[in-house]
Amino acid sequence: MSTASAGTALITGATAGLGAAYAEELAARGYDIVMVARDRARLEKAAASLAERSGRAVSIVSADLSTAEGIRAVEARLASDDAAIDILVNNAGSASFGPLSAADPDQLESLITLNVTSATRIAAAAAKAFTGRGAGSIVNISSAFALNIPPVGAVYGAAKAYVIAFTQALAQEFADSPVRVQVVVPGALETAIWDGSGIELHQLPKEAVMSPRDAARAALAGLDAGELVTIPSLPDYDAWTAYDEARLALAPVISLSQPAKRYTEQP
Ligand SMILES: NC(=O)c1ccc[n+]([C@@H]2O[C@H](COP(=O)([O-])OP(=O)(O)OC[C@H]3O[C@@H](n4cnc5c(N)ncnc54)[C@H](OP(=O)(O)O)[C@@H]3O)[C@@H](O)[C@H]2O)c1
Repeated sequence: MSTASAGTALITGATAGLGAAYAEELAARGYDIVMVARDRARLEKAAASLAERSGRAVSIVSADLSTAEGIRAVEARLASDDAAIDILVNNAGSASFGPLSAADPDQLESLITLNVTSATRIAAAAAKAFTGRGAGSIVNISSAFALNIPPVGAVYGAAKAYVIAFTQALAQEFADSPVRVQVVVPGALETAIWDGSGIELHQLPKEAVMSPRDAARAALAGLDAGELVTIPSLPDYDAWTAYDEARLALAPVISLSQPAKRYTEQP
């Protein structure tokens, strides 16, 4: 018999990999789950299995988040007060690695629509709903490739860098609000995202690859601790703080009325 619900979590890309691990962990914490993905048969199977194992209510939204129609379906679910969402895990994403000069531009655009546009619009819908209700958490999934800029992953790495900058800006917007935001920056995970991406999982050193379950657990521990940026494998959090403080230290001198002397003085 299920106990009282801790709330409802909407997870995009919830049928596999990191999203499925989030669904398991949040259901175990007592959340009812809304799973979003494209493949309806896989959604139905995953939802039935999770509901059976966890005793939680698990519903599905079948939507392709690389299309405007699919994104709108999830925006509508977030706006609905019917079983209102408490936590958004903005997780669905795809990866593609290879030289830009050889890339299919339509595939690049699709990657940007899924990893950037859908994440942005879905977070905006959550921000609006959560602000109206005075509560809610937005969890955005970035990647270590945002920081460890890959030589043949310009679009994926840049899309994931967007997710960090976007969330850091949201954190300022919501600083005095009960709405919480977090960006998770996982390193390589043992998931199917690598299949056909241009880098295969077996090419990566085993010590660099984490299980999605461990990553989801670490990310939720980071959320519990109130972290804005959670990097599951980073041993010393001070390293991230130092990195971000170096960025902030540039602020007073990167917007001035005059060009720097090195650009104006003759050698
Ligand atoms: N795996 C890694 O090494 C790694 C590392 C750092 C960050 N990340 C990030 O973590 C997130 C999850 O990655 P993952 O490795 O867990 O991926 P994954 O194993 O490939 O699973 C992707 C999930 O998203 C769904 N999905 C894919 N395309 C979709 C679309 N167009 N519309 C709606 N749902 C879609 C899939 O279901 P359907 O196919 O049925 O739609 C599936 O549920 C991504 O944002 C990824 O960039 C992953």
